[in-house]
Amino acid sequence: MPTEPALPEGRPATEVLAELRALREADAPTRGGRTFAYVYDAGLDGLDELAAEAYTTFATVNGLDPTVFPSVARLENDVVGSVAALLGAPGAQGTFTSGGTESILLAVKTARDHARSERGITAPQLLLPSTAHAAFHKAAAYLGLEPVVVPVDPVTFRADAAAMAAALTDRTALVVASAPSYAHGVIDPVAEIAAAAAARGVLCHVDACIGGWILPYLRRAGRAVEPFDLSVPGVTSLSVDLHKYGYADKGASVALHRDAALRRHQYFAHAGWPGYPVVNPTVQGTKSGGLLAQAWAVLRYVGEEGYTALAGRVGEASDRLLAGLRSVDGVRVLGDPAAGLVAFTVAGEDGVTPDLSLLLHLADEMRELGWYLQPQLSFDGLPPNLHLTLTPATVGQVGSLLDDLAVALDKARALEPVVVDPELASFAAGLDPETLGPDEVAGVLAFAGLGEGAGLPRRAAPVLVLLDALPGPLKERLLAEFIGSVFRI
Ligand SMILES: Cc1ncc(COP(=O)(O)O)c(C=O)c1O
Repeated sequence: MPTEPALPEGRPATEVLAELRALREADAPTRGGRTFAYVYDAGLDGLDELAAEAYTTFATVNGLDPTVFPSVARLENDVVGSVAALLGAPGAQGTFTSGGTESILLAVKTARDHARSERGITAPQLLLPSTAHAAFHKAAAYLGLEPVVVPVDPVTFRADAAAMAAALTDRTALVVASAPSYAHGVIDPVAEIAAAAAARGVLCHVDACIGGWILPYLRRAGRAVEPFDLSVPGVTSLSVDLHKYGYADKGASVALHRDAALRRHQYFAHAGWPGYPVVNPTVQGTKSGGLLAQAWAVLRYVGEEGYTALAGRVGEASDRLLAGLRSVDGVRVLGDPAAGLVAFTVAGEDGVTPDLSLLLHLADEMRELGWYLQPQLSFDGLPPNLHLTLTPATVGQVGSLLDDLAVALDKARALEPVVVDPELASFAAGLDPETLGPDEVAGVLAFAGLGEGAGLPRRAAPVLVLLDALPGPLKERLLAEFIGSVFRI
């Protein structure tokens, strides 16, 4: 029997809330336009308060059963209806989900089950450009599909439509295109990929998780945006996250299908147990109505004109940032970013070759100055880079961001380059991630400065340079161990 109680004595609400607020102090700021990943700041007065109140109003409602809570059906039909009106085609049907990953999981499940029942495919493949979001690999792993990855064009970073078409097989259940990709913010040739898929009777998913709620409004604001949604022949499903450029709180996305016959494959129904009859459109069973309610409220508060104006602000921030970055010596913007995402790399002494150490020193120096730019490591010949997700709140920050970037780059150039310890490199090269024991894992993490109890290092460059040098499977194993050590209980 445990001797310690599981919890301390109950405390007054004010104290509990004060402790929660204090915990936020070490976090990156989620408002103010200085954190360029993970957060979407519309910069609109009253929006956060509205979302919070809408959540609270529905927090105790269980979205599991719309026959008991009909409000849930009304809200979801409204939200999915708006998504279908913006990105759909006549007959499109969808589902509100908890995020991009869940929408993608459901689209892949739909395609797997469709392939099995309509085409008799029992060993399905998932055909992806190399820039497709990692969530597709997660879906393939969870749902038992074989991922087939096609390299993207190394200059434009867009999917290579001809190579994708050539990689279609009789076992392909689903082909994926991004609008845009997260890593480089470029839109894949959706129409060509979807046409090739349709010609073989294969489903095609457009991952518009990040772009789906901004691209149409950028178009409405006067910018050229090529068609990418269900109006494109051959596109059979699409994911769009309202918790990104819809500015809803986290936990809001929609998976949209061309028609009811496809959406049917997304659902899970089960009557073979003695409890209540189960039919779950999503991965979750019980779910709070709060997330749906806050997304509904945010969409209605911002409205069509509001989203057009917000998209315009992101576009303006992007134009100014891109022009500024392109004028910095040694900086290269990757591809032709379409919608609020910018990835750039920095060249070393030869002025051409990307310099990982310099790039990561730059990210650390920017962090010292209060900016979070997201490092992305090298992959399959694609250069390492820093990634920025722009939001309307960025507009007022572009000037100071560029000023600080120049300062940080000078400082980064003056620092000793980070090199991987050759002893560690040869030790790591001999490790088999499948059979790694706890001591070996602890050894590598300690070498990287991430040993037990060491906490998070103040500078990420030494860790990331090491990670970049390791083979993929070892990298994945160490990342899992590291996160396991963060959530240490
Ligand atoms: C293009 C794209 N797809 C999928 C996802 C995954 O979404 P989430 O983090 O909401 O699960 C993201 C997240 O950034 C994304 O940008």
